Amino acid sequence: MCGMLDLTNIPPQPLVAASILSADFGYMIDSCKDVLDKGADLLHIDVMDGHFVPNLTMGADMIRALRQHLPQAYLDTHLMVEHPGDYIASFAAAGANHFSFHVEVCKPFKTHGYDPRKLIDEIHAAGMDAGMVVNPPTPPEVLEACLGPYLHDLQLVLIMSVNPGRSGQTFMPEVLDKARWVDQRRGERIRLQIDGGINTQTCREAAAAGVDVMVTASALFGAADRKAVIDALHASAS
Ligand code: DX5
Ligand code: ZN
Repeated sequence: MCGMLDLTNIPPQPLVAASILSADFGYMIDSCKDVLDKGADLLHIDVMDGHFVPNLTMGADMIRALRQHLPQAYLDTHLMVEHPGDYIASFAAAGANHFSFHVEVCKPFKTHGYDPRKLIDEIHAAGMDAGMVVNPPTPPEVLEACLGPYLHDLQLVLIMSVNPGRSGQTFMPEVLDKARWVDQRRGERIRLQIDGGINTQTCREAAAAGVDVMVTASALFGAADRKAVIDALHASAS
């Protein structure tokens, strides 16, 4: 990889985001180097707080280690947490490039939730790209109110294709209606990401719905031939 990835450029083929949740945590840096060497475009870091989802995963210390050892890697953080606002400054200082938070912890979805505009401004002021995430049970009818006003300020929208919490679940094709909703309204400078159950088959349906960033954990790190998986995801739109 030469230079840092710029998410605002339309990629010539879908980007591959390697979700390190399925990497071998005992060999984290080597595992990340391996998938980056084989063509993965960015690293996706799943942050869970034990409240928004039951699981606990990783935070600023892991981001700092990744940044130290992989200075050229684009670090995409996905905050499955109740209080994303608490982590913007520390994640930016640790070296994250991107910060995605869920619509489900924000107004108007959650009455006393965060103001998305304020979070987006804080993320940008900290020097990161900003993304918003939608969970599978969140209905398409609320997208206009929850996402519509922010579409032109974001660098990425993430449509979850499993219920968040762990790797290795089955892709839910019904969420693609929401991907199409975003695709029809987004400008050129915003990427459309999907996360959950993406493999060499499901990536094709996602690409057909307009997705241009494929997150993959178990299908990639669990594969005997990781390069073949990355190549297939890159080719998913062709
Ligand atoms: C799920 C996480 C995903 C997960 C994907 O809560 O947000 O990023 O690691 O795992 P796979 O690709 O195995 O479905
Ligand atoms: Zn994720």
